[in-house]
Amino acid sequence: MLQTRLMILSVLHLYVCPLAKSLMLRVPLEVQSKPLASQQFHSFLATETLKLTLDNKMNMEYYGRISMGTPPQLFRVIFDTGSANTWLPSSNCPVSNAACQLHSRYKAHKSKSYVQNGHNFSLAYGNGHVSGYLSQDTIRIADAVVPGLTFGETLSHYQPAFITTTFDGIVGLGFSQIGWRNTTPFLELFCQQHLFQQCLFSVYLRRMPGELYGGEITFGGIDESRYTGDVHYVPLSRVGYWQFEMSSVSVGNRQIAKKIEVILDTGTSLILMPIDIFDELQTAMGALIENGTSGISCQGENLQDIHFHIGEKKFTFTPADYVVKLETSNTTICVGGFLPIYESFWVLGDIFLTRIYTVYDADAKRVGLADAVSNEN
Ligand SMILES: *[C@@H]1O[C@H](CO)[C@@H](O)[C@H](O)[C@H]1NC(C)=O
Ligand SMILES: *[C@@H]1O[C@H](CO)[C@@H](O)[C@H](O)[C@H]1NC(C)=O
Ligand SMILES: *[C@@H]1O[C@H](CO)[C@@H](O)[C@H](O)[C@H]1NC(C)=O
Repeated sequence: MLQTRLMILSVLHLYVCPLAKSLMLRVPLEVQSKPLASQQFHSFLATETLKLTLDNKMNMEYYGRISMGTPPQLFRVIFDTGSANTWLPSSNCPVSNAACQLHSRYKAHKSKSYVQNGHNFSLAYGNGHVSGYLSQDTIRIADAVVPGLTFGETLSHYQPAFITTTFDGIVGLGFSQIGWRNTTPFLELFCQQHLFQQCLFSVYLRRMPGELYGGEITFGGIDESRYTGDVHYVPLSRVGYWQFEMSSVSVGNRQIAKKIEVILDTGTSLILMPIDIFDELQTAMGALIENGTSGISCQGENLQDIHFHIGEKKFTFTPADYVVKLETSNTTICVGGFLPIYESFWVLGDIFLTRIYTVYDADAKRVGLADAVSNEN
């Protein structure tokens, strides 16, 4: 989860599967979006701040299950390619911290494999932060046991969104360059176990009619049944985030950006982009902008396709791929699944990842993209 971004979270149920003989760990995900809280939606309508409040109102969380400690203590976490640190609520958080009290809390004193660390930490998010202290313990994902992960035990969560989340914490899947100093983040530690031939994982998310979301993360391999054509690889432009250069983006025939730095981020729901490009995209796309609110046709008529050019390869998004419906009891509003940010790079979240199958290859320092198989099962 990018620390600069606003929190937009989705639900990912992760079913634990035994390690496959092929040395791949497959983690199927069944994801369900939560209905909008109507109360929130009404205040959002009243203030007409669609552009900025979409993230919180979407209120979808993608989460999976892990355990920490010996014997295992269970948690629901977001597997987040947009960050490298892991944190869980601490059993030592104060009673006044509702977000912590309403979630599963890690109890160091109940774990035989707990190791004290002694450093404090604080992580800032778009409109809040979490803080606490570091600890070390054994993390398990399905049958994979990874000892010695340094993670944050949170004492404070300064963000209202944390109160209502289904997930308890976050497991970052980024590189150590964006993690805490002198700690080995989850992915690198995981790969040091040599459970797999390759240090890579791949993400398949799908978006089904009726607003059900699903997918899976495969550690150690690529699932050829989840995409069509070839996987198109691009080198990371910088190691830290899963970041690469996209050649250009066009809407219909009109190029709106070129040579842009993008980040693949499973922890973000939408596609975030610099604000000037966002404005251009809205215009090019044919969005109706009224009083600062941008709405588009739910049928997608008159809307343009959006093309992402990555090297030689072009990935086309039709309106069905990028239109997001926001529903209340008696209204449906449609918007493009995009948000402006005050950054120079783009963040490709779940709107992008439900259309594109992605491979995160830590050995070769590259990402792979392919057309995900269609949303039908
Ligand atoms: C960590 O934070 C606690 C309060 O939350 C403080 O009492 C303690 O001194 C801090 N420790 C370090 C090493 O900064
Ligand atoms: C936009 O603002 C104008 C003037 O305040 C108002 O008449 C109009 O109804 C507003 N449009 C929407 C969609 O709220
Ligand atoms: C929902 O419908 C009722 C009755 O038709 C109307 O009074 C109300 O303004 C509507 N709410 C919204 C958010 O459109």
